[in-house]
Amino acid sequence: MTSEKNILCIGAGYVGGPTMAMIALKCPQYKVVVVDIDRQKIKAWNSDSLPIFEPGLDEVVKKTRGNNLFFSAEIERGIQEAQIIFVSVNTPTKTFGQGAGRAADLQYWEKTARQILACSNDSKIVVEKSTLPVRTASAMERILNDNSKGVHFEVVSNPEFLAEGTAVRDLEFPDRVLIGSKETPDGIRARKEVVDIFLNWVPREKILESSVWSSELSKLTANAFLAQRISSINSISALCEKTEADVDEVAGAIGMDSRIGPKFLKASVGFGGSCFKKDILNLVYICESYGLEKVARYWESVVEINEYQENRFVQNMLANMFNTVAGKKVALFGFAFKANTGDTRESPAIYIAQGLLAEHADVVITDPKALKNARKDLKNFKKGLTFEANPYKAAKGAHAIAVLTEWDVYKDLDYERIFKSMVQPAFIFDGRNILDHKRLFHMGFNVFAIGKAPLKHF
Ligand code: UDX
Ligand code: UDX
Repeated sequence: MTSEKNILCIGAGYVGGPTMAMIALKCPQYKVVVVDIDRQKIKAWNSDSLPIFEPGLDEVVKKTRGNNLFFSAEIERGIQEAQIIFVSVNTPTKTFGQGAGRAADLQYWEKTARQILACSNDSKIVVEKSTLPVRTASAMERILNDNSKGVHFEVVSNPEFLAEGTAVRDLEFPDRVLIGSKETPDGIRARKEVVDIFLNWVPREKILESSVWSSELSKLTANAFLAQRISSINSISALCEKTEADVDEVAGAIGMDSRIGPKFLKASVGFGGSCFKKDILNLVYICESYGLEKVARYWESVVEINEYQENRFVQNMLANMFNTVAGKKVALFGFAFKANTGDTRESPAIYIAQGLLAEHADVVITDPKALKNARKDLKNFKKGLTFEANPYKAAKGAHAIAVLTEWDVYKDLDYERIFKSMVQPAFIFDGRNILDHKRLFHMGFNVFAIGKAPLKHF
């Protein structure tokens, strides 16, 4: 069967892999190829053990792989054969030179653009899937179209809004799909090609078309707003702990105002994940580069509050455990940056673990999916650190438990049994407010939650 469209995706990561699997599922008439420079990752995508854990993804890949979805390391061939190329290589925060620690590092993007140009013998549409600084498309078009091969490239922006842990659902039933292009006839034609892909399963009214700059900036802005809500409620959690107001009650009360809405108001130990911090710092850098100092400081404070919240958590543990955790066993329940993923990028747990290790605590980490990544994240720490898949064993002989990821399994553990196996007085610090605090207190635990008055026996 000849395919109606040949789609390529460069970058088989958290975004590229699931997104292309969904396109392949919904568009059997297209051939979808995903390539990556990381051969191991491609091998894993072709195996029974996919490189990322995402509920429902195995089924989608099983249905499509080998039919119209292919994972390959042959990047050049993939480029030659495709009419539409999605690029979802990573755009980490720059670690060197100008803008270090803030600006997006675009070297992989630019290298990829140059590779597309080098391997192309005909005109193509290049789709930005990676989150990029506003106006990147124009730089990319300049690189791609400055050629004497007689080939032309249109750069379209199609940011991905999926959240990890719910990627398959978010891709299948997106709130909206955003597609931005230049307003020229060529730009609009390219945009329509991309719109046509999503029309296979997304209702027309949920597909938004815009200028390429609005599309690029909307992605950064969406993440900044989401993170801002978390920092806002986390800042209030600090005030709740001082005043005996309860942050969950406050969030419930304000969330019922339809103008505010109930989502993303869960106070926590802090937000993590590969995007929020990176994208806000990128936004801050862009604002600075246009001389918008006040705007830059405003958004920067969202990241500062997040760091404050993480530090506050460690300080709170220390202060309540008689000002020392040295030599005390502390069990961390959860290491992933949120439940239902094995991803630990920017997880608050990394900072909490480091803070406790700096205080010479004996840290035991347990997590249903993230232990492999946790080991990598903390590889520089040799002393005082162990990993344990079983939460009961992790808590045995511990002075304290800190819940850092909202995994359902932690809600239903036998805490009576855990309490009896711990050193007394036993402490529990619920960094996600998922446990039944009163019940734990009556069992004998000293309970410290986010944004709530402590429940302690002394
Ligand atoms: C990435 C970006 O971090 C995010 O900003 C953007 O929105 C989407 O792409 P993610 O998919 O989570 O998100 O990144 P990651 O899982 O690291 O995947 C990127 C993949 O690109 C990696 O597998 C990497 O090997 C690959 N890559 C990187 C290439 O194939 N070629 C390169 O030149 C660089
Ligand atoms: C986010 C955006 O939601 C998604 O649209 C974008 O494409 C990528 O970045 P993700 O990082 O996968 O997705 O996870 P998300 O569910 O947004 O959670 C981010 C962090 O915020 C997690 O650490 C989570 O635990 C925390 N969080 C979320 C809170 O602390 N409180 C909340 O109310 C919601």
